[in-house]
This record gives sequence, C-alpha cells and structure tokens, in this order.
Amino acid sequence: MAKVFVVTSGKGGVGKTTITANLGCTLAKFGEKVCVIDADIGLKNLDVVLGLENRVVYTLLDVVNGRVNAHEALVRHKQLRNLYLLAASQIATKEMISPEDMKAIVKELYPKFDYVLIDSPAGIERGFRNAVASADSVLIVTTPEVPAISDADRVIGLLENFGFAEKSMKVVLNRFKVKMVKAGDMLTREDVQSTLALEIIGVVPDSEDVIIATNKGLPVVLNGSVDVSKVFENIARRLKGEEVSIDEDLFRSSKTGIMALIKKLLGKKRG
Ligand SMILES: Nc1ncnc2c1ncn2[C@@H]1O[C@H](COP(=O)(O)OP(=O)(O)O)[C@@H](O)[C@H]1O
Ligand SMILES: [Mg+2]
Repeated sequence: MAKVFVVTSGKGGVGKTTITANLGCTLAKFGEKVCVIDADIGLKNLDVVLGLENRVVYTLLDVVNGRVNAHEALVRHKQLRNLYLLAASQIATKEMISPEDMKAIVKELYPKFDYVLIDSPAGIERGFRNAVASADSVLIVTTPEVPAISDADRVIGLLENFGFAEKSMKVVLNRFKVKMVKAGDMLTREDVQSTLALEIIGVVPDSEDVIIATNKGLPVVLNGSVDVSKVFENIARRLKGEEVSIDEDLFRSSKTGIMALIKKLLGKKRG
C-alpha cells in the first residue's frame, strides 16, 4: 500500500509543483514505485516540469468520466521507469471533480505504488479539498516570507479541521537564502518552525538551477545542482523514516549560495 501525500500551500507560486516533481523523481531514483498526480486542474504543469506533456493522452477527467481507468491514464517517465504521472486536464474545471472522485482514483492506484504524491492547488477552494481528500499525510510548502507563512498557518488550521493530526503534517521550507538569513533580512528556520508549530521536513535552497531545470522540462534532481539534489534526497530519506539532520539541508543551502555568488562574480568579470 502506498503512502499518500498531498503537497499543498496557502499562497500560490511557492513551489508545490517543483517539490512534487523533484521528490517524486528522487523517490523513484531510490527504487520506490511512485505515482504523481496533478490535481491542479485547469493549470496543469506537473507534466511540463517532468517533460511529459507530449505523452499525455488521458487525464484525471477521463478517469472521472469513466473513459479509462486510473492505470490506463498513467504516463510513464522517460528516464525513471518506476515514476508515473496522472495528468490534470486543462479544459476541466475544479467543479467537474469531487473529493469522492479523487478518493476513488487514489484507492485504485495505491495498491500498486509505494508513494502517491498529489500536487494540489493553493488555498482553500474546491480544488484544494479535492486534493487533500484522499491523502493520509500533508506536505505544506512555504517560502520564508511573512505572507506565505501566514497563509500556510491558515491552511494548517483548515487541515486540522479536516482531521489531519499534527504528526501527519510536515513543512517544506522552499527558496531559502542563507545569505539573507545571516544578514537578518529573512526569517530563519526557527522562526518558521515556531510560527507554524510543525516539523520542518526539508529546507530547499533558492537556486537558479531549479528555474533553468524547470524550463528544460527536466527536474533539477535529474539535471542540475548536486546540492539541491542532495536536499531532495534528504527529504526522501526522512519520508522513508530515516534520521537525517536538517543541518544537512542548511549546509547545502549555504553551498548553493556560495556557488551563486561565484557564478555572479565570474559573470561580472566576463561581462
Ligand atoms: N527552490 C527554488 N529556487 C528557485 N526557484 C524556484 C524554487 N522552487 C520553485 N521555484 C520557481 O518558482 C516558480 C513557482 O514554482 P511552482 O513549483 O510552479 O509553484 P506552485 O506549484 O506552488 O505554484 C517556478 O518558476 C519555479 O521554477
Ligand atoms: Mg503548481
């Protein structure tokens, strides 16, 4: 039986799709059988981030409408053969799919997988409720900025009302900038932890490599920065129940910061 995680946030654009794609790839690299589901209906971009948009034939909506079953709708990743995607439909609206539909789909899939990761829309409307309905655990993505954190806090309250226990909710702190934290210009991991009062399961550095990789349709863990990849490996290990210190992630973040600085200096010299 798979572990079913929903990746969500309060604020939009904080990195849910990036985290879902890279974590999915990393777990698959570790030999786990992984299904990622794009429940951000109407926007659809998990397929693009994974470089699979040309291979999508059926979507979540086709499964809901009974045209195909969930397994028939899956797209297999090109390099990572034990990673599968269930894509979102661009033409569908969130109202065309109900939380019960999502539950039925995940129920059909989870006996065949080790992990199911659901990429959710931000916020609190129907799409969000669809995405969380079928999950047993939640990864809440936030950046270390006050508006993102306060929206995350609101969503955590909502998830509690939906019945999620504290231990089934973890925070992924994304786009962390060690330099700014050191200068006192950004919230620290401790600040975030004490505001949200949940375990932080990963600190992902802010990295140009993530943006470059996304634009190429190859997640950063398959394509770019060793340090960012290492952070996703740490998160995957923690999900699997291993003890990996969060300081490992912060060390990688500071290395990423130094690399960015060196690149910038070299670029300036050349220019
Ligand atoms: N760690 C990171 N470093 C740099 N850019 C990032 C990082 N995480 C996400 N991004 C960028 O932020 C933007 C929004 O990310 P995305 O994953 O689409 O967010 P969401 O799914 O929450 O809307 C994308 O352009 C993505 O490349
Ligand atoms: Mg997204």
